[in-house]
Amino acid sequence: MRLPITLAGAAAIALCTAAALADGPRRDYVPPVDWKPDVTGDMELSKTYPYWKDRKQLDPKLYESKSEQWKTNWKFMDPSVDDSLHGGHLALDRGGQLYAELNKGNALASCLGAQDGNLKGLRATRYPQYNAELQRVVGLDEMIEVCTTRQGRKLEHGSYDNAAVSLYVTSFSNGVPIRIDVSQGPLKDAFERGKERFHVRVGSNNFACASCHTAAIGSSLRGQVLTTPYGDVAHWPAYRTKGELQALHVRFSECNRNAGTQPLRPGSKAYTDIEVFLTALSNNYPVDVPAARD
Ligand code: HEC
Repeated sequence: MRLPITLAGAAAIALCTAAALADGPRRDYVPPVDWKPDVTGDMELSKTYPYWKDRKQLDPKLYESKSEQWKTNWKFMDPSVDDSLHGGHLALDRGGQLYAELNKGNALASCLGAQDGNLKGLRATRYPQYNAELQRVVGLDEMIEVCTTRQGRKLEHGSYDNAAVSLYVTSFSNGVPIRIDVSQGPLKDAFERGKERFHVRVGSNNFACASCHTAAIGSSLRGQVLTTPYGDVAHWPAYRTKGELQALHVRFSECNRNAGTQPLRPGSKAYTDIEVFLTALSNNYPVDVPAARD
């Protein structure tokens, strides 16, 4: 009698497993808001778009007050609010020096895709991009690692020097509105994946990025007030006042760590997908570096 029962049991387990696999693993999501791949979408959350459109409308009382600041989505010491000297300016100098060393014969500029060595607008309008040669979507920091590796002087994504060069290149987009097209092709796929990643609950606290960055906007965590993700990418890499120049992907990993979630490596596919999602949420918002953050 044992054999048929065991076989029936095994068959049932196999069927259940097949059904579970067909449905995929269980996933819980924070309900998404209707994200628009453009800063105008912010009207649904903190309604800061009018300030971004016309900075003269910004009431200094809002950004001077810690408790009101989040409403402007402007962060502490962003250049258009405060141009005092901070570590981001020193990082910009370092980036310029490294760039000059690495760009002999326009090597770095052409590898990054700059026409005739002209960096203006490169970061704002061309990154993240689908790179046909690499057959994947890459952000600027990632491409700096790829290009410097080709020169035999690898500046690792997430390192100070990589972020310094990225900041320097990004500074040539100051005032240029971000414009990436996520309506088709690999960038659309990355945008959709990034959006999913942003909402999926993970880790020991069962938090998604959206648990804080959508559901908790305006509340204070560890002394920082949560703002909408609209427009954020335009200020990165940013100088953190705890003393480091930080790449955007390193900021993601810090958030992951703070939320009790496994951090990923800078340049990982999941982080690049989130970068595409967040960059699209900065579309039409002008690049503004070097910024500082608490
Ligand atoms: C436990 C809450 C929490 C979670 C979860 C979280 N963050 Fe954050 N994050 C913060 C806080 C607090 C700040 C600082 C305040 C701000 O900038 O909104 C911040 C800042 C950021 C910033 C910098 C914004 C700027 O311009 O300074 C980015 C980008 C960011 N988070 C992305 C993410 C991503 C992507 C995820 C998911 C992988 C995530 N965060 C998950 C709390 C969180």
